[in-house]
Amino acid sequence: MSQIQAQFPKGFLWGGATAANQIEGAFDEDGKGLSAADFVEYIPKSERTKDNAMEITSEQIRKTLSGESTARHPKREGIDFYHRYKEDIALLAEMGFKAFRLSIHWSRIFPNGYDETPNEAGLQFYDNVFDELAKYNIEPVVTLSHYETPYGLTEKYNGWVGRETIDHFVRYAETVFTRYKEKVNYWMTFNEINMITISPFTGGGVLSDKEENPMKAKYQGLHHQFVASALATKKLHEINPNGKMGCMLARMSTYPNTPNPEDVLKAQQDNQANLFFTDVHARGEYPKYMERFLAENDIQIAKEPGDDAILKQYPVDYVSFSYYMSLLSSAAPEGERTEGNLMNTLKNPYLEASEWGWQIDPIGLRVALNELYDRYQLPLFLVENGLGAYDKVEADGSIHDDYRIDYLKKHIEQMKEAIGDGVDLMGYLAWGPIDLVSMSTSEMSKRYGFVYVDKDDEGNGTLERSRKDSFFWYKKVIGSNGEEL
Ligand code: BG6
Repeated sequence: MSQIQAQFPKGFLWGGATAANQIEGAFDEDGKGLSAADFVEYIPKSERTKDNAMEITSEQIRKTLSGESTARHPKREGIDFYHRYKEDIALLAEMGFKAFRLSIHWSRIFPNGYDETPNEAGLQFYDNVFDELAKYNIEPVVTLSHYETPYGLTEKYNGWVGRETIDHFVRYAETVFTRYKEKVNYWMTFNEINMITISPFTGGGVLSDKEENPMKAKYQGLHHQFVASALATKKLHEINPNGKMGCMLARMSTYPNTPNPEDVLKAQQDNQANLFFTDVHARGEYPKYMERFLAENDIQIAKEPGDDAILKQYPVDYVSFSYYMSLLSSAAPEGERTEGNLMNTLKNPYLEASEWGWQIDPIGLRVALNELYDRYQLPLFLVENGLGAYDKVEADGSIHDDYRIDYLKKHIEQMKEAIGDGVDLMGYLAWGPIDLVSMSTSEMSKRYGFVYVDKDDEGNGTLERSRKDSFFWYKKVIGSNGEEL
């Protein structure tokens, strides 16, 4: 019997991923306007719930704008990448990065979102960053919108609920595709597009308390994002023939809690509810199974004539996704629960969990890769994966993060197996290669990086960068194209 020896393909895009609002800081420099992320408050652990950590109310916005609020907004500070990008990119290059994912902070380019002309200083900043990456042959992978809807659009249209936001987004997309057509080929429209249905403010600048029917508003906003994404894909292909557009899903692989057919059915429904987003992006139409969900939840999406044709005509070129963990589905969801990426879930007795309760499931990654490739037959790109953990700095400054190495190694092994299974995988981008502000908790202490950043949850620290053990390990992984783990 011959054996398939799985190998990473030549040109595999090894690297890491970030988002502007979690790294840049400089939230009001050089003409940048406010975005949704600039309103997210730091809430100490004892007072934090999933809802108050990410969702923002109109009252909080009012207090922040009037200066009444005393809250800290860590995503305004980031890790000062805005001023330190040269040093940071040099560290990525030292690890041998082939690709670096970042987002453009939309409100640096169009400060209110609805402005007619772009802000030159904002455009120049990303020119500088892309030039720096080019110096080291690092391929930029750029997200157009990573939880960074300009606040002006929230004020005027309640974010993505307003159909007008589509045109403003497409103008922004066209502006950056044109400006960077010689520098950027890999793009993505909306980070984890499923976020708008979970935290509409984070995912779409939508204030739920302004809506009579928040559930309907979320799906309306989502529809606008789908149409905007398809129109941006059209523009990219017109402007840059080498341009490739991806979608981005927080993949929530869901297993049935037991072999009880009721649980199996529930798991299938939960999986469909998650894959719905990539189904629209990749297949170019709303799947049939959503009709029942929408009817049962009394949601009528307002579509304009031509919307369906737009979705059909401009699907994505590749399917990108984040994978951190798997979930369990049960028709009778009683039992011990644990935290997870965007959602909490029942505890899986076969899995260990991170210090934040996210269940660690490397084999689940192989399952997810096979599932996605079977379903779409499009190249896949794993654009986020990693372990958020507390790190300890030793007296000599070293950081022994063997737990992180272990997590990444096991996931990379399974990725390799999936390639052996026949999956077409373009690359692997570890989340937060340099420690950054956590999306869900706004903590600094939830660290993902190969590079440590000296800053704590309260915002104190020198911001100095240092190499963890995982830095040297990942360098070896990339240098051997995944052979030495
Ligand atoms: C993804 C987001 O959901 O997970 C990132 O795209 C985020 O923005 C990452 O940082 C990890 O989540 P967290 O909450 O640990 O920062």
